[in-house]
Amino acid sequence: MEKVLQVGNVTKYYGGGSAVAKALDGISFSVEKGEFTAVMGPSGSGKSTLLNVIATIDRVSSGDIFLGGRRLTEMKERELSVFRRDRLGFVFQEYNLLDTLTVGENIVLPLNLRKTDYRESRRKLEQVAAALEVADQLNKFPRELSGGQRQRAACARAIITDPALVLADEPTGALDSRSSRNLMETFRRMNRSLGSTILMVTHDPVVGSYADRVLFLKDGRVWNEVYRGDRSRQTLYGEIMNVSAALGGEGTLTAEEIDVCEEAGRKRASAADKDANMDGKGTSAADRAAFMEGGGNAATERNGLMCRKGAPAADRDASMEEEVRGC
Ligand SMILES: Nc1ncnc2c1ncn2[C@@H]1O[C@H](COP(=O)(O)OP(=O)(O)OP(=O)(O)O)[C@@H](O)[C@H]1O
Ligand SMILES: [Mg+2]
Repeated sequence: MEKVLQVGNVTKYYGGGSAVAKALDGISFSVEKGEFTAVMGPSGSGKSTLLNVIATIDRVSSGDIFLGGRRLTEMKERELSVFRRDRLGFVFQEYNLLDTLTVGENIVLPLNLRKTDYRESRRKLEQVAAALEVADQLNKFPRELSGGQRQRAACARAIITDPALVLADEPTGALDSRSSRNLMETFRRMNRSLGSTILMVTHDPVVGSYADRVLFLKDGRVWNEVYRGDRSRQTLYGEIMNVSAALGGEGTLTAEEIDVCEEAGRKRASAADKDANMDGKGTSAADRAAFMEGGGNAATERNGLMCRKGAPAADRDASMEEEVRGC
């Protein structure tokens, strides 16, 4: 397999003197062509810093990064800006579409900057717009689109140049849960049908579960990694919850909270079973068993769905139902 990205023993320090902060601490990993990788980890673990040094937005303090066969760490600023434009695609939390351009003009902008001929630009625009389901939106302005449509347009813009790597930092951060799932389906399509290699930072286990592989960062290093392989998305979700719990990052539960959640889960399961038996509706025991079957720690998975920290009760209920149906 071809390695698109190789990160070798990279450190990144911010500040100086006594105020120095080590954001990356000798991190090493590589990404194969066609891989869809999620990067997760607690706040401050270095996820955005990692993305920024790979994106050539920021410089490493030491170590090497090879991307698409080029050694980024030895390239000059002018070379880097051309490299960024031609070889990388970006999807940010805040869409970053230009308000004064139509959606079509936004998507095709990277090709115009490269002075690609008009006919070729139109052909690529039609191809990516159709693949990402924004073909009907091309003559509108970004403000006339929903958040999900805007983010799909941003994805179309990110892949129109066939970049070596698509980088996304919390791409679902501004979306509701349904739009997040739709966007992740879009990422899967970019990955599977269009062959995009994707490196995506997220703090959301559901979003992470759409990837083929999840890297967990802690204190600026890769602390753990999980591959999906042939397993189901639910199984990967369960593993993400388990690793997150072990990692002790934000959004995970304390031992007491796990106890409370387990008890609530048992009560809920038994109530749902009763309902299902009485009127045949709702989530059946068989459905739940099928969902949990993928492996991992069933209690933790259930906790994750029912007791995601910080989520209001109504959201959690909706989230669980959507989750079980969505799987
Ligand atoms: N420009 C900067 N100047 C100084 N310190 C920084 C800067 N950017 C990041 N840091 C520090 O580097 C560490 C890693 O930050 P980073 O933004 O990469 O974390 P993160 O994993 O993306 O966190 P979050 O999940 O909150 O977005 C943190 O301790 C942070 O305070
Ligand atoms: Mg960040």
